[in-house]
Amino acid sequence: MKKVLVSNIGMLATPKGNAARCGEEQGKIEILKNAWVLIEDGVIAAVGTGSPEGADGAEVIDAEGKLVTPGLVDAHTHLIFGGWRQNELGLKLHGATYLEIQNAGGGIQSTTNATRSASKEELRAKAEKALDEMMGFGTTTVEAKSGYGLATEHELKALQVIRDLDDRHPMDLIATFMGAHLVPAEYKNDREAYVRLVCEEMMPAVREQGIAKFCDVFCEADTFTVEESRRILEAGLKYGLRPKIHADEIEAIGGSRLAGEIGAISAEHLIVCPPEGIDALAKGGVIACLLPATSFNLGAVFAPARDMVKAGVPVAMATDFNPGSCPCLNMQFVINLGCLKYKLTPEEVLTAVTLNGAAAIGMADRVGSVETGKQGDLVIWDAPDLDYICYRVGSNLAGTVIKKGAVV
Ligand code: NIG
Ligand code: FE
Repeated sequence: MKKVLVSNIGMLATPKGNAARCGEEQGKIEILKNAWVLIEDGVIAAVGTGSPEGADGAEVIDAEGKLVTPGLVDAHTHLIFGGWRQNELGLKLHGATYLEIQNAGGGIQSTTNATRSASKEELRAKAEKALDEMMGFGTTTVEAKSGYGLATEHELKALQVIRDLDDRHPMDLIATFMGAHLVPAEYKNDREAYVRLVCEEMMPAVREQGIAKFCDVFCEADTFTVEESRRILEAGLKYGLRPKIHADEIEAIGGSRLAGEIGAISAEHLIVCPPEGIDALAKGGVIACLLPATSFNLGAVFAPARDMVKAGVPVAMATDFNPGSCPCLNMQFVINLGCLKYKLTPEEVLTAVTLNGAAAIGMADRVGSVETGKQGDLVIWDAPDLDYICYRVGSNLAGTVIKKGAVV
């Protein structure tokens, strides 16, 4: 048995439990001073304070009195894509909106063209580099969506790349099928045919290969209507894919209401979520997965996170890493924005980027907190306490990242 002892922890900060925390509970985390964590064969065997017990023969990692938290969970990324879209920066600076760029053939369609022409190996090498960088910033679990293939062959290609990366990279990857990211150019005049393709050809193939856990849809003006989104998510359920939904990102067309009605595991973005949308999320037990770095990049307002916490909606936070609306893969920036823009407390933010993120991707029984029985995924921060990582902006403070008990 391989034993690893993380000793001399100045502050251990972690939410607790195997499910999302909401309301006041979101801010109630455990803080242990002078703590240690014992990991056996990649799984946390004991957590304590004072002198470590049961650690004979363990390899010791000295935390040097610093802050330790669970590894961060990035519960929303569009990891697999060809090319980048730096050309859109100039357009944005001249006032073009996200939907204007998309409607002019830029945006998701241009990344789709680049993704279709990329080989599996090219996509894998590119995503691998991003995963290395994410891990260097303290992320140890990542959700990754398809959605830049928009044709059966290319959606499957993206999901296969995610599966391969999960096999060969230390990062845990959870795959989401998002064939309904945009109606691609060749179906512009027959969107119904595209919705059928997603439901009747792509989904059965995804199911047959067993390569995705969730189904997501971009429910937005000029993208997929609420009714199309409902059909797509209901079809996904038939194929064993739990629903997720991009809702109220740019216009509030009813995506959050649909999330509540359909019992989605999470609704994402929610930048302009109206009060009735928040009620629907609360009633449906839906996790709000908020993406503040996207608001930042779009120059948009920030989601009403405090209202969500007040209404008892569990709030998770993630990057939304993608080549368009959010070319940022750094969860530490998300942490900063969670405090500075959402006005969440450091404790609420920590829960959002660990346990609640894990719950949003069905992983809360394995990751998201430092507790006996969970995976040994930890970050030793170059920081004395939790406030410090929330307040420092622009530096990488992830000192040592530990995945399943091994330093990565
Ligand atoms: O979550 N909104 C839809 N999808 C991404 C953006 C994708 C892109 O711009 O390429 C998002 O913001
Ligand atoms: Fe997204």
